[in-house]
Amino acid sequence: MAVGKHLVNCLLAASSALAIVIPQDFSTFAAVSKAVNSTVCNGQPYEYVGMAGWGFVQGNATDKYGDTISWGSSIAVDRPSITVTNGADGIINYSMITYNLPDRGWNTEGTTNFEPRIYKYRLDFQPYVGGHFHPNMQWELEDTIILLDPYGNPLTGLDALTTLNFPGFPILPAANFTGDGWDYTTGGQAVTTRVALDPESIVLINGTIENGFYISDEYGPYIYKFNSQGLMLEAIQPVDAIVPYRNGAISFSADAPRLGDSNSDDISPADPDSGRVNNQGFEGMSMTPDGKSLLVLLQSAAIQDGGDNKQTRNHTRLFKYDITSTTPQLTGEWVLPLPLYNDYTKKASKNPAVAAQSEIYAVSDTQIFVLARDSNFGHGEDESLSVYRHIDVYDFSEATNIYNISKFNKIGGAVAPNGVLDDSITPATYCSFLDVNVNSQLNRFAGGLHNGGTQDWKLLNEKWEGIALIPADGYDGADGSFYVIIVSDDDFRSLLGEVNFGRIPYRDSGKYNLDNQALLFKIQLPASASPFKHFPAGVHA
Ligand SMILES: *[C@@H]1O[C@H](CO)[C@@H](O)[C@H](O)[C@H]1NC(C)=O
Ligand SMILES: *[C@@H]1O[C@H](CO)[C@@H](O)[C@H](O)[C@H]1NC(C)=O
Ligand SMILES: *[C@@H]1O[C@H](CO)[C@@H](O)[C@H](O)[C@H]1NC(C)=O
Ligand SMILES: *[C@@H]1O[C@H](CO)[C@@H](O)[C@H](O)[C@H]1NC(C)=O
Ligand SMILES: *[C@@H]1O[C@H](CO)[C@@H](O)[C@H](O)[C@H]1NC(C)=O
Ligand SMILES: *[C@@H]1O[C@H](CO)[C@@H](O)[C@H](O)[C@H]1NC(C)=O
Ligand SMILES: *[C@@H]1O[C@H](CO)[C@@H](O)[C@H](O)[C@H]1NC(C)=O
Repeated sequence: MAVGKHLVNCLLAASSALAIVIPQDFSTFAAVSKAVNSTVCNGQPYEYVGMAGWGFVQGNATDKYGDTISWGSSIAVDRPSITVTNGADGIINYSMITYNLPDRGWNTEGTTNFEPRIYKYRLDFQPYVGGHFHPNMQWELEDTIILLDPYGNPLTGLDALTTLNFPGFPILPAANFTGDGWDYTTGGQAVTTRVALDPESIVLINGTIENGFYISDEYGPYIYKFNSQGLMLEAIQPVDAIVPYRNGAISFSADAPRLGDSNSDDISPADPDSGRVNNQGFEGMSMTPDGKSLLVLLQSAAIQDGGDNKQTRNHTRLFKYDITSTTPQLTGEWVLPLPLYNDYTKKASKNPAVAAQSEIYAVSDTQIFVLARDSNFGHGEDESLSVYRHIDVYDFSEATNIYNISKFNKIGGAVAPNGVLDDSITPATYCSFLDVNVNSQLNRFAGGLHNGGTQDWKLLNEKWEGIALIPADGYDGADGSFYVIIVSDDDFRSLLGEVNFGRIPYRDSGKYNLDNQALLFKIQLPASASPFKHFPAGVHA
């Protein structure tokens, strides 16, 4: 515990020492102020220039179908939609379409028959030029797109206790429910089986919805391809070592009993014997800048790699799939060492703990951003002070590519038994970068956004799970200047919630109405990073 306190003090001291000077005029603040922080990763310099904005959508807002919105499992920007206008008043206005991904539905008290979907938003933001009390990111819901299986049926958020087969697809995680899947009190209702999805990341193909999109999930954990209307076209099953197995058979359940089921487990054994840990699936996904491959990252270590323990789950795996041919090809697999933090609520023997990751974004062919964080700290949690919420940089150019080494990829194949990395593997390089929690930056907005302290609407939420980049030049970001948007997943924690197409009201048993929060940062990328080079913004195909 003493270690935890010390770390917190250091962070606060560092942030106040580096507090930037706020310009009072409308000149760009980057030019007149010092960067908040910087890092050099394998020779490549990154700068956190400063926080540039904030915004939110109320936690009790509803979508096109009357259901409560929770938008922050992931976010993707439609690049051709980005427009930048310079107002006569000196205010620069960025406007674009984003696609935001909700998690598997309201599930704080059990999984439900929520139909997975994506939200289409119009986002406008005017980067910070001083004195932003009112949100300078404005979000307006334009549409809600329900995801459909290959036959056109909706999906479900219920635990994947069964499977479904479709021609040309691997076996898919699925769930059975009776009636409409919400009323389990009426007997004798027909059984429906639907593909079960626990969505965690969305990627627009080559930067625009026109080409369709990919969604990664944590039941499979799979990667699904959809067309622009939300119809499933393809599913990618990962290597055997990552697919969950129980008693020698594939078993997709995340041991997540449905709402109203009083059992604490709905599967035995509760944990898989091999593969991804329950609810620690493909949290992060990104397209490589050239549009030819997908990168996907497991939230934390597989169970045979120490994944069932918060102290040993630090060796997670990054996969690369070439998607240019009709059948996606695995071409890369690397081990990433997740960051460690001190959980000040736990005794010394439980520390350090591993910060699992929630999203990635490829900035170059060999470097990615990883959004890693602690858990159980923030708005609505018992403790409000988070000690680790970062956008970090990982470089995998010198890491061992293990994609074709069968001992690591077969069922039970381990790269780090009990968290100890195999001698033959060189992991990716971790470079600590942008600390979301720097209070001297947060405090400048909303009259005091904050990490730690009072439980109020200005306190940051616990979970931050989506990253999007916008080139400051509104085109290709050739000068390396970018805005980064991060969004939080509020777990549908509303006191005025609606589910089942607005037919059933709910009240989360936590005492809080959490908002869907968004933050904006300005950063400077190295010249080697060119995420928008091949698919620039503001260009209509
Ligand atoms: C800057 O980065 C260093 C290295 O990761 C870290 O120790 C320090 O706390 C950071 N400071 C701020 C203000 O983020
Ligand atoms: C919705 O939640 C916000 C807080 O986020 C609150 O201010 C507002 O009054 C709520 N709306 C209704 C109809 O209660
Ligand atoms: C920003 O641009 C959008 C789209 O052109 C426009 O609807 C919005 O009013 C603008 N906002 C500001 C503050 O200028
Ligand atoms: C799900 O429903 C199907 C069709 O009724 C049935 O064949 C299957 O056994 C059920 N699976 C489970 C796990 O209940
Ligand atoms: C995306 O762009 C790459 C070229 O970088 C191309 O090979 C691929 O076919 C494109 N995909 C689609 C769906 O347009
Ligand atoms: C992984 O975690 C273990 C246990 O906490 C620790 O000993 C080890 O140093 C960590 N490895 C890395 C690369 O962070
Ligand atoms: C794995 O692939 C690399 C090249 O990508 C090759 O050099 C190596 O021989 C392969 N190893 C195995 C075990 O197939």
